[in-house]
Amino acid sequence: MFLKKLIKAKKDRAKHSLSIIIPITLLNSGILIIFLLISSYLIYSTACFLVARLPTVQEEKQMIFNDQLALFLFILLPSTILTGIVLHYWVTKKMFKPFHELIEHTQALKEGRFPPEIRARSYREINQLTHTFNDLTERLKYNEKSRDQMLTNMAHDLRTPLSNINGYLEAMKDGVIKGDKDIFSSLHKESDRLIHMINQLQEMSKWNEITSHTLLEKYNLEIQSVLHESLSLFELTLKNKKISLLTEIDPCTVSINKEGIQQALTNLMQNAIQYYEGTSPISVKGEKCGGYYQISITNPGLPLTEKDQVSLFERFYRVDTARNQKTGGTGLGLAIVKEIVVTQHKGEVFIESTNNHHTFFLHLPLNH
Ligand SMILES: Nc1ncnc2c1ncn2[C@@H]1O[C@H](COP(=O)(O)OP(=O)(O)OP(=O)(O)O)[C@@H](O)[C@H]1O
Ligand SMILES: [Mg+2]
Repeated sequence: MFLKKLIKAKKDRAKHSLSIIIPITLLNSGILIIFLLISSYLIYSTACFLVARLPTVQEEKQMIFNDQLALFLFILLPSTILTGIVLHYWVTKKMFKPFHELIEHTQALKEGRFPPEIRARSYREINQLTHTFNDLTERLKYNEKSRDQMLTNMAHDLRTPLSNINGYLEAMKDGVIKGDKDIFSSLHKESDRLIHMINQLQEMSKWNEITSHTLLEKYNLEIQSVLHESLSLFELTLKNKKISLLTEIDPCTVSINKEGIQQALTNLMQNAIQYYEGTSPISVKGEKCGGYYQISITNPGLPLTEKDQVSLFERFYRVDTARNQKTGGTGLGLAIVKEIVVTQHKGEVFIESTNNHHTFFLHLPLNH
């Protein structure tokens, strides 16, 4: 109750407080008036003094001159002051117009609406401010859209394995089916999918958290051993799936965050295996190319459209194929790779794709 009253009082005070234009106009008008009064007095006394010293001017004419000049200044002074005040108020109001627009737009944002873009102004500082505000609005809009998209995708992706588990459990509870090895292994697979999704989400929020606050610590490391260490984790899976792996990794010292690069390589290798379609081997190459070290991973796979290739690195983007719907996934793997390589290592990630071979490239800048 007390808090509500306090907020209301604050709001009322804000509503009834003076616009900044009024004190600025009053201050400048005061300075203008003082300045004009002093200069008028100086003009009057100097002119009268000079006229009095002229030998040809009689006293009577001198009096007339003095009166005329006083009358002239008496009329001129208030009209100049008035014009000055009006002009000042008008110019200041015009200058402050973008701020009023900004206030209205910020208010709209606070209420959850997205205001239209504020148009550019001719003053540099105001221009920078409106530009930054427009960017901020765009960013918020994008974040809200991705959040909605994420919730929709998550709900969809979580529902499928959960309904499967639920369906089986219900049927077993009602005695419609009896649990056997196949059913348990199917349930186990579904729960694995759920765990994977949750792990990916955790991973994404971990990297998001890190990238929004700090830069990861990097050390000069021999990249060849870092990459081989990550690849060794896939030996068993590759053997089970009868996929051969070709590696051609040149040694080079690169300034990297080891955990980050290994996570990126793991995500790319998981994809290469998960979306493997064909008979040729998966190949991993590492070589120095000018100012950067290039890592590339190639696998045979189903064709990817132009749109897919552009959007793959966006969060929650998944290629819409029947097979993908079955395998499940969060569409976060490549977004995590991008976050690590681009944001943290100031590198590049991109894909080159022929009809049925896809190569994912990582460029890590060499600092020497
Ligand atoms: N090596 C690849 N070959 C063919 N398609 C790929 C490859 N890597 C990624 N894709 C496509 O890009 C999409 C996005 O991949 P990404 O790794 O970001 O998400 P995901 O694999 O669907 O889910 P997860 O978050 O579990 O990794 C995938 O759905 C897949 O269709
Ligand atoms: Mg993936």
